[in-house]
Amino acid sequence: MTVVAIDRERIMLANVDGQFFALRDMCGHRNAPLSRGRLEGCIVECPLHFAQFDVRTGKLVDGPISADVPVYEVRVEGDTVLVKW
Ligand code: FES
Repeated sequence: MTVVAIDRERIMLANVDGQFFALRDMCGHRNAPLSRGRLEGCIVECPLHFAQFDVRTGKLVDGPISADVPVYEVRVEGDTVLVKW
C-alpha cells in the first residue's frame, strides 16, 4: 500500500497481485488512515479499531461502523497509475 494526495485528499493505493485499487485513506469510524493498517489479500484492516474493508469495492466487511469507504477508478498506463478523481 502507499498514499498519494489529490487536491489535498489522501488516497490509498493498494497493489493486490499486480492489480491496483484506490480508496479514500480514511476510515469513517474515527478517521484513521487505512494505509497504516494491514492488507491481506483484498482486505485492508484499519489500524485503530480493526474495521475491515474490501479494497475492490470499499465495502465494510467487519468492524464497529456501518459506513463503506469511497473507491476510485484506477487505470494503468505503462508505469503510471491513474486515479479518476
Ligand atoms: S478508526 Fe477505523 S475502526 Fe475505528
